[in-house]
Amino acid sequence: MKELSEFAVEMRDVVKTFKTPEGTMLNAVDHVNMNIKNGEFFSMLGSSGCGKTTSLRMMAGFEWPSEGEIYIEGQAMGHTPPFQRNVNTVFQSYALFQHMTVYQNIAFGLEMEKAPPDEIKARVGRVLDMVQLMGMEKRFPKQLSGGQQQRIALARALVKLPNVLLLDEPLGALDLKLRKEMQLELKAIQQKVGITFIYVTHDQEEALTMSDRIAVMSKGKVMQMGTPVEIYERPTSRFVAGFIGESNFLEGTVQSINGERANVLVPALMTEVTGLNTGKVKMGEKAVVCIRPEKIRISDEPVSKQNSFRGAVKTTTYIGSDTHVYVEVGKLTIKVWEQNRVSSLDPKAYYTAGQNLTLNLMPENTLILADA
Ligand SMILES: Nc1ncnc2c1ncn2[C@@H]1O[C@H](COP(=O)(O)OP(=O)(O)OP(=O)(O)O)[C@@H](O)[C@H]1O
Ligand SMILES: [Mg+2]
Repeated sequence: MKELSEFAVEMRDVVKTFKTPEGTMLNAVDHVNMNIKNGEFFSMLGSSGCGKTTSLRMMAGFEWPSEGEIYIEGQAMGHTPPFQRNVNTVFQSYALFQHMTVYQNIAFGLEMEKAPPDEIKARVGRVLDMVQLMGMEKRFPKQLSGGQQQRIALARALVKLPNVLLLDEPLGALDLKLRKEMQLELKAIQQKVGITFIYVTHDQEEALTMSDRIAVMSKGKVMQMGTPVEIYERPTSRFVAGFIGESNFLEGTVQSINGERANVLVPALMTEVTGLNTGKVKMGEKAVVCIRPEKIRISDEPVSKQNSFRGAVKTTTYIGSDTHVYVEVGKLTIKVWEQNRVSSLDPKAYYTAGQNLTLNLMPENTLILADA
């Protein structure tokens, strides 16, 4: 009897080595471990060339690992071909058949399987309803907008009822507004059908909005895996803190560690900064203080003796919802995002260059990371 697995897909210590045209060997995927739970919306996020598509292609069976193993529903896949895996892929270029109608495009896979005509009709109807394209069955792809074509590509993959859907930057070709609409729609469809989505993107906002969990990748490795909140609020490395959202980094040396707190002497500020001990730093070693721009409080006078720094405004940028304030403190420029809570046309309501003020860093909002 087939053993039930908690995980839809697992990558266990997977390496994929390519010989490059230049003659060198490249680990496009470098000892990756990932476990994607059943029903999860899981994203792989990383910049171009970090190994996202290669990982996805190995799950689908278009490539085989050089080392390690891929498991689907707890079964080692070895060299199992794509059509024998219970996964389906939606690519960035949706590759619809241009000479076929919407209906024919979606029905194609089921017809190849020789499913009974009545069943095909019912299933196509159901997925058309799901992607909200009822009534467009007779249209050809070129008579649809980009977003509608994308939904057909999705419907074509969903109609086969795969356990896992692999999506490689499926919204890449759409403009920003449509992209945002489709993000919400895709997420809603995923929740409705309850199948596992493994989603590739290099857009951090997209990953944060849609995912249950994210794997942040760089140079073939997984740098961190966690929920959007964990990744943003508790990055475990300078790389992740810098890649997802914005951060101020203050370099220094660990002076003391007291349980949950660590103190770092920051030479550029000529003072100590206290923050959350993330467990990776050691006494006397180099560390980096990491603080998000929106978590810094500006005041006239210091709020406490600890973690308050006098500075002067260098420049400000008004961006509507927020004002970005760049403050010179010691030898550093620290960025602070201030929400514009008051509606005012008076320039005095905003910070101006040269203005003196105090920056306050709450220790519980400040992370002390190893400087690696
Ligand atoms: N068939 C191949 N032969 C040689 N090198 C390859 C091959 N396929 C991918 N690579 C290399 O492997 C690395 C990872 O490629 P991959 O396509 O997985 O990146 P990606 O994260 O999907 O990037 P993007 O965001 O640009 O799509 C890249 O450096 C790429 O040049
Ligand atoms: Mg890719």
